[in-house]
Amino acid sequence: MQAKTILVRLAGPALIALGLVATPAMAAEEPEITDFSFSFEGPFGRFDQSQLQRGLQVYTEVCSACHGLKFVTFRTLADPGGPALSEEAMRAFAAEHTVTDATTGEDRPATPTDHFPMSSLPNAPDLSLMAKARAGFHGPIGLGINQILFGMGGPEHIASIVNDFTGEEKEEAGVTLYGNHAFPGGWMAMAPPLSDDQVEYADGTPATVEQMGEDVAAFLMWTAEPHLMARKQAGLVAVLFLALLCVLLYFTNKKIWSPFKGGKKRA
Ligand code: HEC
Repeated sequence: MQAKTILVRLAGPALIALGLVATPAMAAEEPEITDFSFSFEGPFGRFDQSQLQRGLQVYTEVCSACHGLKFVTFRTLADPGGPALSEEAMRAFAAEHTVTDATTGEDRPATPTDHFPMSSLPNAPDLSLMAKARAGFHGPIGLGINQILFGMGGPEHIASIVNDFTGEEKEEAGVTLYGNHAFPGGWMAMAPPLSDDQVEYADGTPATVEQMGEDVAAFLMWTAEPHLMARKQAGLVAVLFLALLCVLLYFTNKKIWSPFKGGKKRA
């Protein structure tokens, strides 16, 4: 192979990796994702416990009719840093679900160690990890640079989808599709799941579509990354530690080299 051809073969992927050239697939029409501001964003971000509880309520009363959360166990609902239900509330919540016992093969009320049910509608995806599986922000021209500024945008993807229905419908191969600005392609098989005042929040928060969308997206961020707060805290400690180490190393370095630098003549 000639040197020139090798260069061309290597240059293409390298340029794409550097984000300098857009492939046609990347430049496909982008969904419109709203940049909602969530309490858990930024280096000091924390989950808002009341919001997670409201999101659990929206998921339970609305989304669970179709979508499952098969990777989430009931007992985690009582964990600190999450919705943090009381032990009794969590047990009572679990017992409202029926599971098939793996050993006896019989149906029984769920216990804290059981998982949430799987999706009951076959084409509705499981939502356990959805907030980490999707990237809401891409552009410009699909290069992903916006993610540096706005984050990956998984929860924004969820909140935008439930908020951004166009109201249009069409039938395709016997399936009704609903227009949605936030869904790739612009049409999805989910009917608008939320309408104002669909749930009644115990804390008196007005249940607008936007509010419910944000709450359920925050809750799904927690199911996808329950230890987000611990991770941020560890990151902060690491940064502080490295900053201190930097200062110490600077002075150590100065001390070690001081006989040879800074105007002092060597003997
Ligand atoms: C009546 C059933 C039903 C209900 C209720 C429902 N969904 Fe869906 N949902 C679906 C189906 C079906 C799809 C797949 C759509 C597709 O692929 O075109 C879907 C897709 C989604 C997606 C897109 C996933 C992706 O691939 O990016 C999200 C996000 C979502 N639903 C969130 C929710 C939330 C949040 C709720 C509760 C507020 C909810 N859904 C309630 C049926 C439902």
